[in-house]
Amino acid sequence: MKIAILTSGGDSAGMNAVVRAVVKAAILKGCEAWIVREGYEGLVRGNIDATPNAALPAAAEYTEFPPAASDIIKNLRFGDGQLLKDGTGDYASGRTLKGRYIVRVGWDDVRGWFTEGGTLIGTARSKEFRTREGRLSAAHNLIKEGIDALAVCGGDGSLTGADVFRAEWPSLVDDLRTQGKITPEQATKHAHLKIVGMVGSIDNDMSMTDLTIGAPTALHRICEAIDNINSTAASHSRAFVLEVMGRHCGWLALLAGVAGGADFLFIPEKPPSSGPWEDEMCETIHKHREVGKRKTLVIVAEGAHDIDLKPIRAEYVKDILSERLGLDTRVTTLGHTQRGGRPCAMDRILPTLQGMKAVDALLEATPETPSYMIGIQENQVTKVPLMEAVAMTKAVTAAIEARDFEKAMKLRDPEFRE
Ligand code: F6P
Repeated sequence: MKIAILTSGGDSAGMNAVVRAVVKAAILKGCEAWIVREGYEGLVRGNIDATPNAALPAAAEYTEFPPAASDIIKNLRFGDGQLLKDGTGDYASGRTLKGRYIVRVGWDDVRGWFTEGGTLIGTARSKEFRTREGRLSAAHNLIKEGIDALAVCGGDGSLTGADVFRAEWPSLVDDLRTQGKITPEQATKHAHLKIVGMVGSIDNDMSMTDLTIGAPTALHRICEAIDNINSTAASHSRAFVLEVMGRHCGWLALLAGVAGGADFLFIPEKPPSSGPWEDEMCETIHKHREVGKRKTLVIVAEGAHDIDLKPIRAEYVKDILSERLGLDTRVTTLGHTQRGGRPCAMDRILPTLQGMKAVDALLEATPETPSYMIGIQENQVTKVPLMEAVAMTKAVTAAIEARDFEKAMKLRDPEFRE
């Protein structure tokens, strides 16, 4: 079997560990391992340069800084030989990857990747892949390389894209054959595409898994930031409003609140209860100050809103704390510092175990079995029907939009799956 792995959507710590695990597990199981650069965009573009291994630009080209440098660096993400040594694939040292998005890799090519942040194979939010034309090109590019299985690491949108691609695959193959782009033999050989998904997202917003890859690292980053904020806050007896990421999900904010000792927090699934939340927040914080707290921390999830779905903004919270409680208040938005950087231990272990399981899932897959998502539930690496998990995830957002917050909380609760 020829297995390709791609990363898609927003990057998250641990994605490189997934790639490493899938590549190594595939090779160990006697398969060929391939990577797709730049997510689905790379799948659509394929190998523009048909020469497998164009030579590296001469060293002199690197010294032109700018204007050529940015182009060269972009195209040489892997190409300086440092990462590529002499893997069994196209990556052998000193090869440029310019114009090549689907590349065979060997064991050495991914050595040590689990310590690296972001995704070394690149990611993109591809518009092309959303069109049938784009997916036709993607199918053609995979078939040209003889690839019959795809592992995808990304958020729910990216994994849904994989399932759509798989469902559509027979008709794409049919079109390619009719258009004479592939031979009848290729069409028969590639009648089905096997796919498997792993959830790479700092938001921890996917149902039917307890943790998504990258969420533990992001949480750790937030905790470190809170520790830093706490010392300066206590010194000046100040209040801080901290905005954290998470899109529609409050997991990062909630857990950071527990781990960092927040006074009050706002998450999308459980907006502040009835009555003006400003009063409730001020009362709580006033009490905390009364019993001697020298610092105040309010965490606002980026998707936070009130019960009428009106967004709650950190700046507004700051104004309330300053005006009503007279607190010297600052806003800190952590932004992408939560997403980048080296993965914590959990974001090396989890993707490694999941990557191995993903390869097994591909080897066991048949045209009749559903597409699977690899997750973790109660400390066990699991394999669950991908679209069930996506549907349940979407149900949470729908419940929030319908202002049924009780249901949203229940859906987030792991107990719910029983
Ligand atoms: O889904 C991951 C995430 O970091 C969210 O928490 C955030 O809303 C979004 O991506 C930010 O996306 P971008 O990197 O495109 O600004």
